[in-house]
Amino acid sequence: MLLSTSSSAISQRGSLGLCFSSPLVPMNSGASAFVRVSKRNNGGSRGLVTFASKDANSRPIFDVLFEPFEEVKKELLLVPNVPQESLARQMYTSQCEKAINDQINVEYTISYVYHAIYAYFSRDNVALMGLAKFFKDSSDEERQHAEKLMDYQNKRGGKVKLKSMLLPSSEFDNAEKGDALHAMELALSLERLNNEKLLNLHEIANDNNDVHLADFVESEFLIEQVEAIKKISEYVAQLRRIGKGHGVWHFDQMLLNAVIAA
Ligand SMILES: [Fe+2]
Ligand SMILES: [Fe+2]
Repeated sequence: MLLSTSSSAISQRGSLGLCFSSPLVPMNSGASAFVRVSKRNNGGSRGLVTFASKDANSRPIFDVLFEPFEEVKKELLLVPNVPQESLARQMYTSQCEKAINDQINVEYTISYVYHAIYAYFSRDNVALMGLAKFFKDSSDEERQHAEKLMDYQNKRGGKVKLKSMLLPSSEFDNAEKGDALHAMELALSLERLNNEKLLNLHEIANDNNDVHLADFVESEFLIEQVEAIKKISEYVAQLRRIGKGHGVWHFDQMLLNAVIAA
C-alpha cells in the first residue's frame, strides 16, 4: 500500500498504524514492524518516506509541522477540572460573554413591548387584527432572537444571565397620529436602536479578536435587522399617507394577509 501527499510519501510493509511520536519508536513492543523516515527525491521535490523496517528507527523525522502529542500538552493544562467551569470555552472573553447577555435583554425587552402592542390591537374596541398579528409575530421573532443568543452563549461556554426588563406601556393611541402610525413609529425606533446595539456587539467582538462571534452577529442578526428596518420604514411611510381614517382598515387587512414580522 502506498500513501502519498505533496510533501510526503508513506509506504507500508506489514501491518502498522500512523505514529506521531518523535523520535520514532516501535509501533508496538514485540512487533516486527517499525517506522522509518528518510528523505528522497519525489518528482523533483524532497519529501518524506515512511516505511516499515527493523533497521532504521533511529533516524530523525524531517519536515514535521504538527506534533499533536507534544502540542496537546499545553491544551490539556487549560482544560478545567472543576465541574462549575465550561469545558468548551476557548478564547471567549468575559467582555463578549457580558455583551451577549446584554443583547439577550435587548431582544427580550423588544419582544415584551411588541407583545404589549399586540394585546392593545387585539382589544374588542380597537380590533385591528392585522396589526395585532404583525406585532404578535414580531414579538415571537424577538424572543427567538433572544433564544438564539442564549444558545450561542452556551455554545461558547458562557453563562446566560437574564436581567430585569422595564414594563411597557399598555396604551398606544395618539391624538395626533392615531394608534397604527404611533405603534409603527415606535417599532421603527426600536428596530433602529436594536441595530445600534448589534453593531456595538459586533465592535466588542472585533475588539476582542473574536472572529466567531463577529461572524455570528453578522450572519444571524445584522442582515435580518437591516431588512426589518427597511420593511417597517415602508409601513411608517404608508401610514403617514393614510392618516387616521378609513385607510388604516385597508392597511390592517393587508397585514392580516401578509406573512411578515419585524
Ligand atoms: Fe431582534
Ligand atoms: Fe426585529
